[in-house]
Amino acid sequence: MEILGIDVGGSGIKGAPVNTETGMILVDRHRIKTPEGAETGPVAEVIAEIAHHFNWTGSIGVGFPAPIKHGVVKMAANISPAWVGMNANELLGQVTGCPVTVVNDADAAGLAEITFGAGKGVRGVVIMVTLGTGIGTAIFCDGKLLPNAEFGHVEVDGRDAETRASDAARQREELSWKKYAKRLNRYFKEMQKLFWPDLIILGGGISKYHEKYLPLLTVETPIVPAQFLNEAGIVGAALAARQA
Ligand code: BGC
Repeated sequence: MEILGIDVGGSGIKGAPVNTETGMILVDRHRIKTPEGAETGPVAEVIAEIAHHFNWTGSIGVGFPAPIKHGVVKMAANISPAWVGMNANELLGQVTGCPVTVVNDADAAGLAEITFGAGKGVRGVVIMVTLGTGIGTAIFCDGKLLPNAEFGHVEVDGRDAETRASDAARQREELSWKKYAKRLNRYFKEMQKLFWPDLIILGGGISKYHEKYLPLLTVETPIVPAQFLNEAGIVGAALAARQA
């Protein structure tokens, strides 16, 4: 089955048709800059534009940077607060004219990795961590997702973790890879203490530079880069729509 997967990120909104049987992206993805402030109308317009770009008339899955319950946005950390309480399935269904399933972006990325990527066949507890504008987390036990886990906001040394260890924090503070690895190490140690996972999978745009910081981490839990790198979100959003 072919489903259009769309990933709404802090800097870009990207989409591509995905074969949900193989996890393959079928044609080059289309990326549009995220509108300033990520307000509801402009983001919806960009999503409609991506659907239009592919002349899409079928199902669409959207990975969204917020906890989502039955299509409703529950919280806004890095998007406009106007999204909170909004039924994103309905809004995006209206603007695209297609059936739309919206899920949390890290849950989507994790779904792609657990089904086809670095977490495939791994038993026990697997945590997907996406490092971008925020920190997204998805927790799996024996391949089954616990949805909307918001452990990017776990408090570490009195601070919301994503304000210190997201890729946005690295860029904002112009941290060297060594300094950034120290912050990541602190965050992963906290996650290890709370969950004792069997595997941590690292996603987000920064996962393609993993050789710069992964070797510097000293956490006992094995940490591997996402096999889909930053495209896990697109593939997983399509898988989530298929499941829905
Ligand atoms: C949001 C999460 C999201 C993550 C990554 C966090 O600020 O609260 O829902 O998964 O950013 O985008």
